[in-house]
Amino acid sequence: MTQEKILVLDFGGQYNQLVARRVRECNVYCEIASYKTPIDKIKEMKLKGIILTGGPNSCYEEGAPTYSKELFELGIPVLGLCYGAQLMSHVLGGKVERAANREYGKTKVYVDGGTGKNGLFEGVPAETVVWMSHFDYISKTAPGFKILAHTDNCPVAAAGDSEKGLYAIQFHPEVLHTEKGKEILFNFVRKICGCSGDWRMDSFVETTIKEIRAKVGNGRVLLALSGGVDSSVAAGLLSRAIGKQLTCVFVDHGLLRKNEGDEVEAVFGPKGQFDLNFIRVNAQERYYSKLAGVEEPERKRKIIGEEFIRVFEEEAKKIGAVDFLAQGTIYPDVVESGLGGESAVIKSHHNVGGLPDFVDFKEIIEPLRNLFKDEVRKAGLELGLPEKLVFRQPFPGPGLGIRIIGEVTAEKVRIVQDADFIYRDEIAKAAEKWKQENDPADSPAWMPDQYFAALTNMRSVGVMGDERTYDYAVALRAVKTIDFMTAEAAEIPFEVLQKVMSRIINEVRGVNRVFYDLTSKPPGTIELE
Ligand code: XMP
Repeated sequence: MTQEKILVLDFGGQYNQLVARRVRECNVYCEIASYKTPIDKIKEMKLKGIILTGGPNSCYEEGAPTYSKELFELGIPVLGLCYGAQLMSHVLGGKVERAANREYGKTKVYVDGGTGKNGLFEGVPAETVVWMSHFDYISKTAPGFKILAHTDNCPVAAAGDSEKGLYAIQFHPEVLHTEKGKEILFNFVRKICGCSGDWRMDSFVETTIKEIRAKVGNGRVLLALSGGVDSSVAAGLLSRAIGKQLTCVFVDHGLLRKNEGDEVEAVFGPKGQFDLNFIRVNAQERYYSKLAGVEEPERKRKIIGEEFIRVFEEEAKKIGAVDFLAQGTIYPDVVESGLGGESAVIKSHHNVGGLPDFVDFKEIIEPLRNLFKDEVRKAGLELGLPEKLVFRQPFPGPGLGIRIIGEVTAEKVRIVQDADFIYRDEIAKAAEKWKQENDPADSPAWMPDQYFAALTNMRSVGVMGDERTYDYAVALRAVKTIDFMTAEAAEIPFEVLQKVMSRIINEVRGVNRVFYDLTSKPPGTIELE
């Protein structure tokens, strides 16, 4: 398939994945690569356009990330953003200097050009708000460039050489605070680069199924199914492609949310909609006995991870050698494990790390390797996976093991499962009520991005009827976050919290107090352990 492609050249900025996601939202496929990618490789990519990202450096300093002039002479449109804009101007003979003051935050920009048909700012009003974050500024445009926008402090907020298709934007169109950011990126990729918008999830599913068939042939594929979005979508795709040649092993470690094991089985098991071999391993007792007496969080994580490998290894042995081991790796995993450029390696949580070392297989197959999370979800819907599964909130690999502070026991798992079930039920009801009263297509502002009940290791005195109790306290956590790296406690309406509290106390044996966790991240983490 000849997919139209844009390259996002990474200069170490914090929004690089966001740039790529916004391009994909224009139905244009794009990939992120390090600025160290050689020009010959770039030529081979048959690109429709190139976007240079922001970055933390000053382009005129020695040793700062740069690219040779050739990049701008390929006849391919190039859009430089922030550092990328400065670099483009610097390399092509303009001037970049340090400003007296940093321009940061929402800024009013005055559009001076590029508003005609197929211009970068077509459809953008004469005055609009953008997100700025820079110390350096372009004091003189490169020869051939016209100023397309300015701000009160910045003479060149955007410049372009429309003949050559070269554009430099000082602000960040990829950030939502830039009011017309989506339109500007759309204008670049769809009009200036001339992409037709052939990146769609329905065709992705269709093409990937064909590719899997061609690659796998008559081979056998093994997949560790966790019930999370990524492995479920991978299972759906593989099943549609190769049916019973796929075996999914689902390990129920007894640390899942209430009913979750059965829900996974309902979708992928023999009574479900997919044609595959489904093996459910009920390893609850094994995990509980390994975890008995263990209180330290990292130790618990390690035991849970290692035990998963042991259980999976045993199952894999029963199946015998397979041709492929499938994994639900997605694009952010690929990017975050390092492009060899400036971007920091961020990811520290690995769910099934080490699995390939213990299974007898010839090759790894990763059908979601090029997708962002929202694209994985769309692919899941295309495959007919239940919405509840597709829009599931993140759930840590070690599961409830890290939501029970201190030692894990079957009894504590029951308590936290029941409390969490009530919490989720009440949040869903409150969100539904809000939708009915407001906008069915929207969600309330307080709707958390992740929420759950955890079991503190604290027991305290209470009174129930006429009796004294000495029971556990449940902590409710709910956060608003974009990237899960920072988070704020969600402002769940008090009456919802009260309802949750009273139901938990009344319905969950062993609990006599409920706390709401107000801590942001940092200093807290999202999980309690
Ligand atoms: P923290 O607690 O680090 O969580 O603020 C950030 C996000 O990562 C999830 N998380 C984990 N995911 N294995 C995982 O797969 C883990 O050990 C783990 N610990 C935290 C957490 O649910 C949140 O979404």
